[in-house]
Amino acid sequence: MSGIYLHIPFCKKACHYCNFHFSTSLKLKHELIDALCREIGLRADYLGERTLSSIYFGGGTPSILDKTDLEHIWDALHKHFAWDKDIEITLEANPDDLNYNKVKMLRDMGINRLSIGVQSFFDTDLQWMNRAHNEKEAVTAILNAQEAGITNLTIDLIYGSPYTTHSMWQKNIFKAMDMGIQHISAYCLTVEERTALHHMIKKGSFKPLNSESATEQFTYLMDTLTGNGYEHYEISNFAKPGFRAVHNTNYWQGVKYLGIGPAAHSYNGSSRSWNIANNKKYTDAITNGKLPQETEIITPAMKYNEYIMTGLRTVWGVETAYISNLGQSFLDDFLTNIEKHLISGDVMHHNNQYYLSRSGKYFADRIAMDLFWVEE
Ligand SMILES: C[S@@+](CC[C@H](N)C(=O)[O-])C[C@H]1O[C@@H](n2cnc3c(N)ncnc32)[C@H](O)[C@@H]1O
Ligand code: SF4
Repeated sequence: MSGIYLHIPFCKKACHYCNFHFSTSLKLKHELIDALCREIGLRADYLGERTLSSIYFGGGTPSILDKTDLEHIWDALHKHFAWDKDIEITLEANPDDLNYNKVKMLRDMGINRLSIGVQSFFDTDLQWMNRAHNEKEAVTAILNAQEAGITNLTIDLIYGSPYTTHSMWQKNIFKAMDMGIQHISAYCLTVEERTALHHMIKKGSFKPLNSESATEQFTYLMDTLTGNGYEHYEISNFAKPGFRAVHNTNYWQGVKYLGIGPAAHSYNGSSRSWNIANNKKYTDAITNGKLPQETEIITPAMKYNEYIMTGLRTVWGVETAYISNLGQSFLDDFLTNIEKHLISGDVMHHNNQYYLSRSGKYFADRIAMDLFWVEE
């Protein structure tokens, strides 16, 4: 079974670190939601099946959607797809949008998993990030979600900034655990091109990042969460038993998905496509019955590299049976290149499954790149 991702490309404020696709003008919201609904119809055959196991509203800021918007999207999704009885429906939400009535409405509409972008429980962090919320709103949003009956809550946290001290980071983790959060996504701050953060570091008004300090915070994160009953099932993701994300796990395991909306990506097993990252151009094209997207065919080498990159970051690791299905030469190459990582202890294996050891988790990307297939 497969999933649908819907990209909601609007935000109240531009966070200084973020280069996801969004606009801070809501002018096109209604036209864009109409276009999302039309795209669902235009691409309903993309997955080759019509039963959904997950729906994921990502952004941007999906919590700007009101009841009418969601009803409109629901109509389109129900018209074209059957929903599995255990379907996971996640919506990314910013804390300042989550008053009690809003969460209740979301829950009543069938959203059964909320992903709240807390980032930090410290106002000083939230200020340099240029977030639209403060610490008090983050706590209130979580309490509102719990009171409204959302039993599957995940929050995003960011570590590795030179302004987030170790003591602050420790308190962030404990606050999340104390509040009974079932799932935590913790991302190491990255400096993306074309962001205010990038600009500020270049002109010296933001301290440069310190990788040693980020590594220390990652160590504390892993040790504390795994020591308190969370499974570290993907480099940035931790879940209490039974609360792993269905939708994201499907991505990591190579399951097909359909991405709707500007900048959304889709994968059908043999090709990948991505929609134009421009709200106006996207809306105009869809309104004229055209799909504003580019497509690339996935070659076995691309599939191998993607499998290594995503698989190694997960608790399932990578399996030789999958690799040999792509071609014997990939398996030969893999078995040769993996040897030094087994000797160093950064990779371990159990029968035909290879996964990162604790020490290897610090170098996931470097190890993956070393294993990549490079065309002659
Ligand atoms: C695209 S955002 C959408 C969620 C929602 N709009 C919000 O911000 O609360 C998903 C998450 O990616 C993370 N993120 C985005 N840019 C990042 C960066 N440069 N470094 C680390 N984490 C980042 C943040 O934790 C954010 O919550
Ligand atoms: S982090 Fe979230 S709220 Fe901030 S700009 Fe990015 S998508 Fe928007």
